[in-house]
Amino acid sequence: MDKATIQYHFWRRVYDWFAPFYDAVDWFTGNTAHRLRRRALEHLPPPGSRLLEVGFGSGKLHGELARPYAMAGVDRAPGMVRLTRRRLASVGLASDLKCGSVYAIPWPDTTFDAVLSTFAFSAFPDADAALNEMIRVVKAGGRIVIVDAGPAMDGNPVAAWLARLWDLLGDTMRDEVRLMESCGLQEVTRQDYGPFGSVHVVVGVRPEIIMAIDSKPKP
Ligand SMILES: C[S@@+](CC[C@H](N)C(=O)[O-])C[C@H]1O[C@@H](n2cnc3c(N)ncnc32)[C@H](O)[C@@H]1O
Repeated sequence: MDKATIQYHFWRRVYDWFAPFYDAVDWFTGNTAHRLRRRALEHLPPPGSRLLEVGFGSGKLHGELARPYAMAGVDRAPGMVRLTRRRLASVGLASDLKCGSVYAIPWPDTTFDAVLSTFAFSAFPDADAALNEMIRVVKAGGRIVIVDAGPAMDGNPVAAWLARLWDLLGDTMRDEVRLMESCGLQEVTRQDYGPFGSVHVVVGVRPEIIMAIDSKPKP
C-alpha cells in the first residue's frame, strides 16, 4: 500500500470517528481555528448567493453561512455530515448537505456563485483533480476561496516548521496560487495571516472560458 492510500484510509476514519470531538479541540484552543477560518467570509459574494463548502467538517462556519447564503456542502465523513445536519437543524437553518468526495462533487456544472474550503484542501492528495472539480461547479465570474495552512510567503521559520509538521501528519502543503493559475483561474490573490503567517487565504475567479477540465473520479 502506498503512502497516499494509507493516508486516505487513516484520515477517512479519523474524521468520521473524531467528528463529535472536533469542536472541543477548537474550544480548548480558544476558538483559534474558527477565527482563522472566518477570514474566508471577507471574500464571499453578496448575501443570497449560492455557495458550496467543500470539506465543511463539524459545520461551524457552515452554520454561520447558512443564514445569509443559499448553502450546500459536501464532506466525505458521514460523522461530519450528521453533526452539521444536527447543528443546522437545532437553529432552524437549512443547507443541501451531501456525503461525497471533492473528486466527484455531486452537483452539475456551474451551479454555484462561489466554492469555499477551509483547512481541507491540504487533506486532498490530488490537488489538481480537487481544484478542477471545484472550478467545474462554479459559475463564470464566480470565486474559489481556499483557507489553509502552509509556509509563509515571507519565509518565517516558525511557519515553515509548522508546515513541515502538518506534512508529517499527512497533509500536503502546496502553492495554491500557482495551482489556481495553472487551472485557468484569474485575479488570483493570496494573503498570509494567523500565527507567524502560517495560514493563508487564496482566492481565484473563474473566467468565461476555461481550459479542459480533468475531473476523473478518485476515492
Ligand atoms: C481538517 S477538516 C476541516 C474541516 C473544516 N472545514 C474546518 O475548517 O475545520 C477536513 C475535512 O475535509 C473532509 N475531507 C477530507 N477528504 C475529503 C474528500 N476527498 N472529499 C470531501 N471531503 C473531504 C474531512 O472529512 C474533514 O471533514
